[in-house]
Parts: sequence; C-alpha cells; structure tokens
Amino acid sequence: MKLRYQVTGGILFFLAIAIASLALILSHNSACGPAPAVADEAEWMKAIVYRCYGSPEVLEYADVKKPTPAEDEVLVKVHAASVNPLDWHYMRGSPYIMRLESGLGAPNDESMGVDFAGTVEAIGKNVKRFKPGDEVFGGRSGAFAEYVTVREDRALVLKPTNMTFAQAASVVIGGITALQALRDKGKIEPGQKVLINGASGGVGTFTVQIAKSFGAEVTGVCSTRNVDLVRSIGADHVIDYTQEDYTRNGQRYDLIIDNVGNHSLSANRRVLTPDGTLVIVGGPKGNWLGPLMGPIQALMLSPFMGQEFVTILAELRMDDLAILSDLMQAGKVTPVIDRRYRLSEVPAAIRYLEEGHAQGKVVIDLD
Ligand SMILES: NC(=O)c1ccc[n+]([C@@H]2O[C@H](COP(=O)([O-])OP(=O)(O)OC[C@H]3O[C@@H](n4cnc5c(N)ncnc54)[C@H](OP(=O)(O)O)[C@@H]3O)[C@@H](O)[C@H]2O)c1
Repeated sequence: MKLRYQVTGGILFFLAIAIASLALILSHNSACGPAPAVADEAEWMKAIVYRCYGSPEVLEYADVKKPTPAEDEVLVKVHAASVNPLDWHYMRGSPYIMRLESGLGAPNDESMGVDFAGTVEAIGKNVKRFKPGDEVFGGRSGAFAEYVTVREDRALVLKPTNMTFAQAASVVIGGITALQALRDKGKIEPGQKVLINGASGGVGTFTVQIAKSFGAEVTGVCSTRNVDLVRSIGADHVIDYTQEDYTRNGQRYDLIIDNVGNHSLSANRRVLTPDGTLVIVGGPKGNWLGPLMGPIQALMLSPFMGQEFVTILAELRMDDLAILSDLMQAGKVTPVIDRRYRLSEVPAAIRYLEEGHAQGKVVIDLD
C-alpha cells in the first residue's frame, strides 16, 4: 500500500477514536454526589438542587445556604418562578454538547431555574438602583429557591404594577426570546406578514403579542385545543396544525418564527417571500445532532439564498426586560399562565413541560 494511503488511513483511524472518546465523555452520567457540608451557623433556605444529570427524579427539594448579597448585589425574596425548556436541558445535560459548559458527567452548578419575581430584601452597599421592599422580576440561575442574589447591573427590573408576581416571573426567558427573535433577528416591520409556529407555548404566546405590538399581521400555528387561546391573544389568523400544514397552503410570509422545528428548511423556504426571514428558535429533542441540524443547515445555506435563515440564542438583558415591563404596563403583553406548582413540585412541573404541550407558561408559586 502506498505511504500516502497508510498515512490517510492512520489519520482517519485516530480521528474516529477521538470522536468516539469525545462522544463517550460527553454522554457519561456520573452518579449523584452527596450534598456539600454547610456550616452550622449558616442561614438556610429551601431550594431545588441537582447533583447529577437525568430525569426529574434527580431534582431534590433541599435545605441549602441562604445567599448573602455582595456589595453590588441585591437579595430577592422569590415569590414566583417559571419553568422553561432550558431547565430540563440543564437537568438532563442534553443535547450533550452543552455539557462542555454545564459540566462533564455531572452539573458544575447544582442550582436550577432562571425566571423569578419577588421583593428586594437586602442590598449590597454599592447598590443604587434598588432598595429593600422594591418589587422586581428578572433572570438568574438558581431561581427555584426562596432567595436569589442578582448583580444590580444584570437582568433585574422593577415589576410592572399591573402584573402579579406570577405574571412577571412568566415573562423573562419567553418574552426576551420572543422580543429578540422578532426585533433583532427577524427585523420585524409594521404591516409584515409574520407566521409563528408553536404559537401557544411559553415563547409563542409572547411572540404573538409582541408581533402585534410591532403592527404585524400575525398567523399563529397551534393544535385544535389552542385555537381560541391564540386568537384571544391577538393572532389575526390561526392555523390548526392537526388540520392544515402551513408549508403547503399557498400563503407567503415575510417572517417565520419557528418555535418547533418540525418542518424542513426547504418547506419553510417555500412559504417565505423572496426576501423573507426564518428565525429558528426551537428544534426537535435529541441528545446528539437532532436539535442542532436546523441551525447547522441555516448557517450553511443562508449565504446562498435570497431568503435569510437565522438561529437565535436569547440573551438575558436588562434593557429588554425594561421593554417587556413597559409592554405589560401598557396592556400590550399579558402572560398566559397554564398550570401552577409549589416549589417542592418543580419535578412535576418540569415533567409536564417536557411533554411539550404547555398552554403558555408553567409557574412555581413560593408564597
Ligand atoms: N433559542 C433560544 O434562545 C430559545 C429560548 C427559549 C426557548 N427556546 C426553545 O423554543 C422552543 C419553544 O419553547 P417554549 O418555552 O415555547 O416551549 P413550550 O412552552 O414547551 O411550548 C410547547 C408548545 O409547542 C406547541 N407545539 C408542539 N408541537 C407543535 C407542532 N407540531 N406545531 C405547532 N406547535 C406545536 C405546543 O402546542 P400544542 O399543545 O398545541 O401542540 C405547545 O404550546 C423549545 O424548543 C425551547 O427549547 C429557544
């Protein structure tokens, strides 16, 4: 055999070994570790924690150390939190590629939850924007707990006075994702025809309302039982996906926000105007390439198409929370709340959300 073939064969062999090793490392689940020791004099609080990846059974309702705010931090007593698909992605460490950040084998950070609303209980000595007693909402890892500390310059704003804590806690990731998908990625303009696939879920119910606030003509896609809900939050047209495939009905849209990822890029392309945009928000479940296929294809194909295919990774930003707060205060956005659970019932809340048929947001009540 020629040397050239031997070298190529050797490289391919080592590449295959390297990929297989990486796959084994990424998919390995370590056993659940013991709870860390906490000093006796520590103040305690209840929180949901996890020390290994897996199904909702890995979540523990535990006593953990109550946090104290640093000089630039605010201590918030949490009254309500809400559940997002992000929570079960972290709980399962899935897709596995995210474990490069969340921890190989087991999570680096045992806390859970992001969206919260509550009352400022204490502030660090450098904090200027908040004072004890302020009613606030925001996003911070560890929101499934009685208390959370947040830096005052991070995603934390005053709660609109016309919203309950449960409503304010519902808006954080879902509302920010909807806003950034429509405005930053979709470059939405008044009068545009916008289709929202997955209009009845946590992100979708905000996307419909925010698209309407931008003056768009909105079509929502959902199942039969959610048709009235999606119409009631402002959609001009509703497509029942059990009766009709939106990629085959001959309509064209300037912007598609896809929260589901159940149609191919070529099918979505067919119903986009020649210079339309598809924003990929959600995708199918899967541990390996499944959820990443849409974004990878979008990245590869978009430069060669008149239409634009873009993927979003929403960012928790204070200025966007303030915009959502104004929209709620003005009555243009009202969170849709589906089921409510207690803090100790977070595993059941996540189990329900994982079924993929929530009607709006799932809330955790702490009061
Ligand atoms: N990229 C980002 O930064 C980002 C941020 C947040 C969320 N996400 C992702 O976005 C997706 C949606 O999040 P979410 O919070 O809205 O989830 P969710 O609350 O679990 O939404 C589920 C919704 O999807 C609908 N649905 C299921 N199958 C459908 C189909 N074939 N056609 C149309 N609708 C369908 C369900 O409606 P029916 O009951 O009527 O079927 C349900 O209302 C998730 O994949 C999540 O991971 C991404």
